[in-house]
Amino acid sequence: YNRRQKGVIKMTNEQFPDNFLWGAATSAFQVEGGNQEDGKGLSVADIRSYPKRHQQLDTTVSVDHYHHWREDVQLMKELGLKSYRFSINWSRIFPNGDEVEPNQAGLRFYHHLIDELVAANIEPMVTMTHFDQPYGLVKKYGGWVDRRSIADFVKYAKWLLKEFSPQVRYWLTINEQAVMVLATDMLGIDDHLDEHTRYQMAYQANYHMWLAQAEVYKLCHDEYPNCMIGPAVSYITTLPASRKSYDMLAAKELEDFYSFAQMDVAIHGVIPKYFENELANLNIEISTQPGDEQVLQEGRANYLGVNWYCTTIVEARRDADPNGFIFRRINRVIDPDLLYTEWGWNFDPVGLRYGLRQLNDRYPNIPIAITECGWSEREELIEGKVHDPQRISYLHDHIHQMWLAIQDGVNVFSFNPWSFIDLLSNGDGMEKRYGLVFVDRTNFDEKNQKRYKKDSFYYYQKVLQTNSLQP
Ligand code: BG6
Repeated sequence: YNRRQKGVIKMTNEQFPDNFLWGAATSAFQVEGGNQEDGKGLSVADIRSYPKRHQQLDTTVSVDHYHHWREDVQLMKELGLKSYRFSINWSRIFPNGDEVEPNQAGLRFYHHLIDELVAANIEPMVTMTHFDQPYGLVKKYGGWVDRRSIADFVKYAKWLLKEFSPQVRYWLTINEQAVMVLATDMLGIDDHLDEHTRYQMAYQANYHMWLAQAEVYKLCHDEYPNCMIGPAVSYITTLPASRKSYDMLAAKELEDFYSFAQMDVAIHGVIPKYFENELANLNIEISTQPGDEQVLQEGRANYLGVNWYCTTIVEARRDADPNGFIFRRINRVIDPDLLYTEWGWNFDPVGLRYGLRQLNDRYPNIPIAITECGWSEREELIEGKVHDPQRISYLHDHIHQMWLAIQDGVNVFSFNPWSFIDLLSNGDGMEKRYGLVFVDRTNFDEKNQKRYKKDSFYYYQKVLQTNSLQP
């Protein structure tokens, strides 16, 4: 593909607010390794089969943050991070998910990590679960598909708040629920089941996740009023391929269903009618109980974690059944003017500003943390260095557009590139790298997991040092 270098941007004095939280992000199963150490049980992420060609790649070692955490925090300190977004591995705390008491060794690991971060003046931003429900709950009752999962998540969240809330002020409940629901095996649902059955189960799971989070939002506001808590939502800003009304409607319907439904429930506490209509198109019926509406209404997020990578461009399939599922009513379109990663994710920074403006229109003045934003590449170490100009360009242009959005009045208070360090990509393991720090291992060769600072590390370090965008 055509490698685009940094765009021509008219620089103004792009200074950020003094208290802006410059961070970087990871998730537990993607970095930790040690997947059965110190009493940890297996999670859905640990057992989930990777695509065939990556069979030897698993979460046993990942990039071994479980044994390199001190060194990693030193690198964060050197980078100048003001905050660090990471997730707690649910099955380190409750190995099977259904225990009454937590695993002390698991709590200890995160106490050490959080103490080290706080000592380095790095504010922890903690995700309670990032694709990693304990597999024990899947075996016991089917995981999120079963209503009992609500109580098990609330119990876990209570423990986290109690143990860590004095030091952790920013909480994210569930990472990218909509992604798990569409890739149903991420919920532990058997791939061999027919599609309708899988979606029926996945959207029931989606409903339970909404209820569980609402309970946790309420609990957090009632008992830990100094904390901020919200979901981490995958927001794919969706653009119409043309100005024709049917293409614009198709883009809106997809964006509403995939991203805004998640945010509407978290912020407004009501399941939107457009979402229910889509489930009806799929012939899915959700089983509910009296009082559920009130639970959703009473427990709401007070900020949004937004995972933003790129835009997607769609056209309406005008021959499709108008009452069919949204994904069957659209085609994805490639814009030849945009650069794409090898994996089909575009480079469209203006889409970030546009998306942030949309969020502010929909939820006026809601505090927003960009909890993920990043560029993937295949990379290798050459004489101890990794040159990643495209990632620098991506960071520069997205930070610039975020700054413009802040000038537009959008309340963005934190930015977290995905990822702080190279980690297991969900589908492509170590082949698809995102980190500011390179880790020396490949899919099939664990090597020594030695860390190397990429060029983008030094670029981002300058932004953080000056609290402004570097030309
Ligand atoms: C987000 C997830 O979906 O995107 C991360 O929260 C993930 O866990 C990231 O790694 C990038 O996706 P992928 O498939 O390239 O790893």
